[in-house]
Amino acid sequence: MKLFDVYPLFDIEIVKGEGCNTYDAEGNKYLDLYGGHAVISVGHSHPHYLKAINEQASKLVFYSNSVINSLQQKLADKLGKISGYDDYQLFLINSGAEANENALKLASFYNGKKRVIAFGKAFHGRTSLAVEATDNPKIVAPINANGHITFVPLNDIEAVKAELAKGDVSAVIIEGIQGVGGIRIPDADFMKALREECDKHDVVLIADEIQSGYGRSGKFFAHQYTDVRPDIITVAKGIANGFPMGGVLISPKFTPIYGQLGTTFGGNHLACAAAIAVLEIFEQENLVENARKVGEYLMTELKQIPGIKEVRGRGLMIGMEFDYPVKELRTRLIKEERVFTGATGTNMIRLLPPLVLTIEQAQDFINRFKNALAKQA
Ligand SMILES: Cc1ncc(COP(=O)(O)O)c(C=O)c1O
Repeated sequence: MKLFDVYPLFDIEIVKGEGCNTYDAEGNKYLDLYGGHAVISVGHSHPHYLKAINEQASKLVFYSNSVINSLQQKLADKLGKISGYDDYQLFLINSGAEANENALKLASFYNGKKRVIAFGKAFHGRTSLAVEATDNPKIVAPINANGHITFVPLNDIEAVKAELAKGDVSAVIIEGIQGVGGIRIPDADFMKALREECDKHDVVLIADEIQSGYGRSGKFFAHQYTDVRPDIITVAKGIANGFPMGGVLISPKFTPIYGQLGTTFGGNHLACAAAIAVLEIFEQENLVENARKVGEYLMTELKQIPGIKEVRGRGLMIGMEFDYPVKELRTRLIKEERVFTGATGTNMIRLLPPLVLTIEQAQDFINRFKNALAKQA
């Protein structure tokens, strides 16, 4: 059987990872400034993480959500404490798209409405409603185009007000920082006004922190650079450092109803053990602060490099926009400088490294990046 060929691949097989480094099948070492697309939070093969999943796997990998799984409560307690949302409730699933599906569904159950406001350039995933709320017609199949979503420009509060005034909006969904959309940060004033407008119209405010959350921005959630508390927050990616997992943090104003949400695999024992280990490492190694500190260093250094049109971001979520397509530069970074980076659009390089990146590794990256840029000219 052939694989369904939907991924344009680099001709490299990564077979091993350690901290912020990965190794290919030929033994070449790469500095990982991509984290497998913002997934590797505590670093590859972290010993505490490996110990936790090995121990759990040797006891029990999975049992269904029909019996008590105290690991779920342990995770909820830890997440509540570290995130500042200990009064919220946690629902566990397996991916980011699934987190957003459940968030949007919950909002609609809550207020009985069907329309959702999302923002220009948004990315919320590839399943049913999540993909409909994604501002990319190329990945929205006719079966997903059901007219639930209205896109308005990011930071345009008047456009939001005009839509909410129609009275039929269930939820507004907004990324903490737009990732795929090109590292765009919602203005603090806009977020404050958005919260007020949602309250005024009983509209559910959903923060998609799947990419920007879990410490990446230098705060636990990117929206915590403001005072706004969303009604629902979605998480995935770094939550279990590569073990597939997603979560929905739900404000106390939502009352759970038996059977209304559910999943076979969500919150399974192995996933919870992985996610608990991740938060323990966050605490032990102060990773949110590390992301802030190393991110600040990177931004400062990158802003001094000539030839980059703009550097945007927070913490270890950084975009570098160029006047030209970055495909060649990114390939040179991988092939010649042995550095993995991400990209978005044609002209932006995205940095989403593990949150354990050190200043020395950041310096090393800057040097390799300068080498690659020098060859560009
Ligand atoms: C902001 C955001 N939301 C949702 C998703 C979808 O997550 P997943 O691929 O785990 O379904 C992504 C993935 O890149 C994302 O960046």
